[in-house]
Amino acid sequence: MSEMSRGGRPDRRGEREPESAIHRQTFSVDFEYEVHFTRDVFRPENDLLVRVLNRGESPRRRRVFICIDAGVARFHPDLVRRIKDCCHVWQEEIELVASPEIVPGGEAVKNDWQVVQDLMAAIGNQHLDRQSYLLAIGGGSVLDMAGFVAALVHRGLRFVRMPTTVLGQNDAGIGVKNGMNEHGMKNFVGTFAPPFAVIDDFSFLGTLSDEHWRGGAAEAFKVAIIKDRDFFDWLVEHAAVIRQRDERAMEESIRRCALLHLDHIATSGDPFEFGAARPLDFGHWSAHKLETLSGYRVSHGAAVACGIALDSCYAERKGLITAGDLERILKGLEDCGLALWFPELERRSPSGDLAVIAGLEEFREHLGGRLTITLPDSVGRKVEVHHLDHDLIEESVQRLRARAARTPQGNA
Ligand SMILES: NC(=O)c1ccc[n+]([C@@H]2O[C@H](COP(=O)([O-])OP(=O)(O)OC[C@H]3O[C@@H](n4cnc5c(N)ncnc54)[C@H](O)[C@@H]3O)[C@@H](O)[C@H]2O)c1
Ligand SMILES: [Zn+2]
Repeated sequence: MSEMSRGGRPDRRGEREPESAIHRQTFSVDFEYEVHFTRDVFRPENDLLVRVLNRGESPRRRRVFICIDAGVARFHPDLVRRIKDCCHVWQEEIELVASPEIVPGGEAVKNDWQVVQDLMAAIGNQHLDRQSYLLAIGGGSVLDMAGFVAALVHRGLRFVRMPTTVLGQNDAGIGVKNGMNEHGMKNFVGTFAPPFAVIDDFSFLGTLSDEHWRGGAAEAFKVAIIKDRDFFDWLVEHAAVIRQRDERAMEESIRRCALLHLDHIATSGDPFEFGAARPLDFGHWSAHKLETLSGYRVSHGAAVACGIALDSCYAERKGLITAGDLERILKGLEDCGLALWFPELERRSPSGDLAVIAGLEEFREHLGGRLTITLPDSVGRKVEVHHLDHDLIEESVQRLRARAARTPQGNA
């Protein structure tokens, strides 16, 4: 048989590459980072930051560049002074290479490449190297943007996250990902890049808006519903006090939620999401679409609450959870002050389908492979499904709409 088949392509059927021509490259890299829970990290007597920067290495002066979410800087006008005072006290250990850079806060920063370039330039101007630190203080959006920068400059600076929102402290700030929005999609670009360390300082949370206080609680419901029934029961019981801004209840929920996320990253066997499943993203296929459909008017946490409600209605119709469990989920979210309905949910595409349904394919495309959606399989356990019935999604949307008409707080 000739070397070329009739189609002009080499005919290599049955041929095998000799073993000697293959070099199989295998190695693994261990990642380790500490997540600390504290208060007033910049109090001069608090040596936590120094310990975090040294992390098992012999003490030396650490070069640190800091960027701060403008929203945080506005509500904590003495923060820059406190940082400088703290670094002055610890000047043998910490070199604050420049005055902290204030960067725009909120989702808009993840759409803004100019901020990325400006931050890269500021870091370059200070000649940071791969053993220097970028410390980012802010909400999940600023941490996603700054983490992206830290992962790219010199192919990876030491990145310390200091999340200042509930959602940042219990989810966005403690994991291994960063991201920017592009091409009309959330997190279209980004990298997997574990941080050097995370410091959850609860003393930032008091200045959060009610929306962002509650929005973070949605992620706690998310992880509890699919992983931890006891935590879910606790959340339902404490939803009303969380809404009333009880700090102790919120701190406990942050710790428990963060530890569940960390446990998943450490033990799921797929921290960098090579597979098609994203088990912790229960409720997220529609949440991400709702955010983009609303032009990011709906915040991530608020969208997640609505996405959880939608997929829980669906799960109940599929017999995965009982009607009683569904009611506890919806009521728990509402008691927390979270809306379960946004008008964008019933927006239609030109084909007449619900526009939110396009979120299924976008979710699949982001992960690759087969569509894999996580649903609760009774509260506290999860199941992965590969198809969602569009008629049942439509029915679930109508159910949420009807409920929102009856319950004033369920309507955004
Ligand atoms: N990388 C990940 O693994 C991951 C996981 C979950 C979510 N996220 C991302 O996180 C983002 C949402 O983050 P978020 O919910 O923290 O909101 P956010 O970062 O958008 O911040 C919300 C608002 O609160 C302000 N703010 C921040 N801290 C404050 C404080 N202490 N006091 C007063 N105002 C403050 C900000 O300036 C902003 O205006 C989304 O883009 C989401 O996709 C990332
Ligand atoms: Zn989320």
